This record gives sequence, C-alpha cells and structure tokens, in this order.
Amino acid sequence: MFTRKAKSRLALAVTALVLGAFQTALAQDTALEQPSLYDRLGGLAPISVVVSDFIDVIVPDPVLNRNPAIDAARKRVPAAYLKYQVTALVCQATGGPCRYQGRAMKDSHVQLNITEHEWDRMLILFKQVLAEHEVPTHETQELLGIVDSTKADIVASRASE
Ligand code: HEM
Repeated sequence: MFTRKAKSRLALAVTALVLGAFQTALAQDTALEQPSLYDRLGGLAPISVVVSDFIDVIVPDPVLNRNPAIDAARKRVPAAYLKYQVTALVCQATGGPCRYQGRAMKDSHVQLNITEHEWDRMLILFKQVLAEHEVPTHETQELLGIVDSTKADIVASRASE
C-alpha cells in the first residue's frame, strides 16, 4: 500500500507531532508552575525571623507551661536549638534547600503529653506571629496545612483539657 519512502515520511511526521505535543505540554507545565512556598515567603532570612519570634512567644507561654512536661523540657532544651531545628524543618517542608536532621515529631513530643487544648493555644500564637509579620492569607493557610500535618504525631492525649 505505502512505498518505503512514504512510510518513513509518515514515521517522521508522527514523531514530529508527538515531540511537538510533548514540548507544548512541557511549556504549559512550566507556565503553571508557581514559586515554592519557601520562595514566596522570601527564603531563609524571613523564615528564620518568624520562627525565632514564634519560639520566643511559645517558650514563656503560661498556658503551655501549665503542662509540667512542657515546662521541664523548655527549661532543659535551649531556645536557640529549637529555633535552629524548627527553621530547618520549615525550610525543608516549604520546598527550600535545607535538610531537617532533627528527631521525628513523634519522638520529640511524645513525652510531653500535649493536649488538644495546648495544640489550639500553639495555633493561636502561631497565627498571631504570622499576622504580625504580615504573611499573606494564602501563604498562612499553606503553613497552617504543614503544621496540621504534624498534629497526629504531636498531640498525645485529651487528658487535663
Ligand atoms: C503545642 C505544640 C507544641 C509544643 C508544646 C512543642 C514543644 C516542644 C518542646 C518542649 C520540644 C523539646 C523537646 C525535647 O527535646 O525534649 C520540642 C521540640 C521540637 N519541636 Fe515542638 N512543640 C509543639 C509543636 C511543634 C510543631 C507544630 C512543630 C513543627 C511543625 C514542632 C517542631 C519541633 C522540632 C523540630 C523540635 C526539635 C526536635 C529535636 O530535638 O530534634 N513542634 N517541641
């Protein structure tokens, strides 16, 4: 039916079509791709400032420190260390270049017996700090989503609420 020449032309045309479609899909993908949350937050410098302020607010918080396990850990673990680890974690989770090398969330919080009430208190303080730094609504929601993804590993009990 087809001559050899016609067949190879057809094959070439099909290859060109497939490649063209592939290139268009690739171009569309690139156009749709938005900067990472890390970049939208402004990178490591602003992230480390927000984390630092957040740790400064939660460390002395009387509601959280009513829990004796939290209070004891706060006195034992340097705030500077927490700032470093939480910054690395947020940097990594938002698509930044850091690699979090601290302990897993369950391992570092299980002994603290953190309640739902304490979790909610932490969220109030976190939102306040984000608002003070004028983090936009969309980015705030994304950060809250990241924090929420750790809740099952951090909240241990419903006792003493
Ligand atoms: C009510 C909520 C929370 C409380 C009261 C709390 C408290 C603490 C305390 C006391 C420590 C030190 C524990 C120890 O070394 O013995 C710690 C460690 C840490 N927390 Fe939290 N935390 C809370 C939520 C979170 C959340 C939401 C995140 C991150 C999304 C987080 C990230 C970390 C990290 C990265 C460490 C250091 C882990 C390590 O030692 O390697 N925490 N937290």
